[in-house]
Amino acid sequence: ASSPAPAAEDSFQQELRQANAEMIRENYVQALRSFNTLIQHYADEPLAHLGHARLLERLAEKERSNQRLWQAIDAYKRYLAFGELVASDGEFLSAGERCIQHLRFMGYHQQSVNIHELLIERLPADPRLRNQLSFTHLTANNMRQMKLVAAATLNLWPDDPVAQLHFGLAIKQLHGDYEQALPYLQNAIASRAEGTQEGYFYLALGETLQRLSRQPEAVEVHRQGVARGLIPSVYQRSLYNEPQLRAQPFWQPSETGYASQLRKLQENWMSIRKEALALLNHRGYFADETENLRHKGIWQQFELFAKGQLHGKNCQRAPITCGLMKAFPESSGCRRGQVKFSVMQAETHVWPHCGPTNCRLRAHLTLVAPEPERTSLRVAEQEITWREGELIIFDDSFEHEVWHNGTRPRLVLIVDMWHPDLTATQRRTLTAI
Ligand code: LMR
Ligand code: MN
Repeated sequence: ASSPAPAAEDSFQQELRQANAEMIRENYVQALRSFNTLIQHYADEPLAHLGHARLLERLAEKERSNQRLWQAIDAYKRYLAFGELVASDGEFLSAGERCIQHLRFMGYHQQSVNIHELLIERLPADPRLRNQLSFTHLTANNMRQMKLVAAATLNLWPDDPVAQLHFGLAIKQLHGDYEQALPYLQNAIASRAEGTQEGYFYLALGETLQRLSRQPEAVEVHRQGVARGLIPSVYQRSLYNEPQLRAQPFWQPSETGYASQLRKLQENWMSIRKEALALLNHRGYFADETENLRHKGIWQQFELFAKGQLHGKNCQRAPITCGLMKAFPESSGCRRGQVKFSVMQAETHVWPHCGPTNCRLRAHLTLVAPEPERTSLRVAEQEITWREGELIIFDDSFEHEVWHNGTRPRLVLIVDMWHPDLTATQRRTLTAI
């Protein structure tokens, strides 16, 4: 008995199979040639462009080349442009998601928004696609757009936990309306649904509770975050952490390994103060704190170094301090910190908060502290105050809170420095924050 002849494959199918096989065998040079031919000869075949995109994204990774990644993105776009001509929803979707992932990585949020919208248009009944769009807005810190998308999603799916989470975050950040944000955040995080279990979200809920004076519940949320491996500890709640660094709220100079550098700064505290006081006379030199950490009052900063980079203009305006800091590269070169003057007016309260990383220690060189008995810095469970000419060294990844209940401004030089337990390699390679 003879079996029937297999259905004749058309030549496009054959060539596509061939090109894909070359890609799978990691014969990239040949595969690239084949796909280039394919998209020339069969420009109206969606699958030629999809295969091309997949090949290019592999090459981008292998060559660590952004140029290749852009080629992959363009190929994905050509594929997605076929729209209804692509039969498979699943394939269309996963191509769109890959394309978005690459665009996000490159920081092209608006372009990824366009792809999101294409996917939503194709599959309007899938809330996940809308949540992915609002997540893109979140990663671009575009709270207004995030709120609009999440609100629209909640209109159709009021119980969707991810949409609740995004909506809650948006009203917290945009309007500081903690009362309204709270049930959304609570519901979403308690659902344990995919997309809701990030350290950042636990911190947002904890902070919301703290700002509503519901401290015991905040602690409970932080405890859960710790139990789920999302936060280092109830008091230390930084998200960008390196393992195995000593972690304690306060430090002595001798413990830091920077005793001599710190002593040098302290010896010069009066000339640093003179320089800072002169800067205070200029309108517009000091900038308001922008991270929404102030409950009330006025708290401003004059930045000299950030992320290990010198702020050129400000350094010219403060040459003495900048010169001293240049001789302390473990601080001025610390890519996870800043060096800045910090002035706090009377009747200021800074909400409890944590710095972003455990990779730095923070010193305050106290320049003006007129009313020590009316000002205080709490770090974890210990409260201290500023004394002129003295140093305070703390780990700002631990929860801290500041009160100024006096009548005259307090002025310090904030000096962040690499955590002493970091290796030279870590100091060289950790990403800037
Ligand atoms: C902080 O790090 O949040 C504060 O200690 C800064 C300041 O100026 O007191
Ligand atoms: Mn702080």
